[in-house]
Amino acid sequence: MIIIKSRREIEAMREAGRVAARVLQAVGQAIAPGVRTRELDALAAAVMAEHAAASADFGYQPDPRVPPYPASICVSVNEEVIHGVPGARRLAEGDVVGVDVTVKRQGFIGDAARTFPVGTLRPEAAKLLEVTEQALAVGIAECWPGRHLSDVSHAIEMVARRNGYGIVRMYCGHGVGRSMHEEPEVPNYGAAGRGPLLQVGMTIAVEPMFNIGGSDVVVDRRDGWTVRTRDGSLSAHFEHTVSVGADGPELLTLP
Ligand code: MF3
Ligand code: CO
Ligand code: CO
Repeated sequence: MIIIKSRREIEAMREAGRVAARVLQAVGQAIAPGVRTRELDALAAAVMAEHAAASADFGYQPDPRVPPYPASICVSVNEEVIHGVPGARRLAEGDVVGVDVTVKRQGFIGDAARTFPVGTLRPEAAKLLEVTEQALAVGIAECWPGRHLSDVSHAIEMVARRNGYGIVRMYCGHGVGRSMHEEPEVPNYGAAGRGPLLQVGMTIAVEPMFNIGGSDVVVDRRDGWTVRTRDGSLSAHFEHTVSVGADGPELLTLP
């Protein structure tokens, strides 16, 4: 069941989304060669606290065989796709670093991600970031009432195909609201014109994940979380929480 939100609920989600966006902004400003990913995590936790919000990631355990998520944000470097666990690793010039922030504020979730450059990137890496962000924009642009959910998926897929990138298929966008993951799933590929019709009041996290190489990913066996490209190629991830408004998409994760 897709949960339709009232205007009030959407305004509460906008407040949570604002915090997620501010955290992302602060973390982005702190990214530099030599910084440890766990320092970014500490900064994120501090900014959340400042805004009376909590990490929705910390302690998250969708599968009892996997340990609860041990940090406040996800930080995924280079071939890490998503769910990178912050730690002692130091960022280096030329890295790409995906930061995914999910906060809970007054019972509602905001979920946003962005892949940042560390210093100057190789042209291929810079292009991957540009194209993945563009795919997010075209996916969001489909979020009008009366369109099909899979129109979002299809629009994103077309951007990857035009550029020869692998689309991560194991993980998807999703409905979001009082829970981090609600129905429906929003794959980053698929035929247009399928699935449920978008309606005013639906709130979804749109989040393309593209790889320079193939689509396949593997989950780290030791931490149970970090998702990497199987072929070791660079990966990028951008995400916004969006509501379907009568006059089109509304971004809920703006600072
Ligand atoms: N922010 C992620 C998403 O976009 C989920 C976070 S997984 C967690 O759906 F383990 F970090 F919580
Ligand atoms: Co996210
Ligand atoms: Co998400």
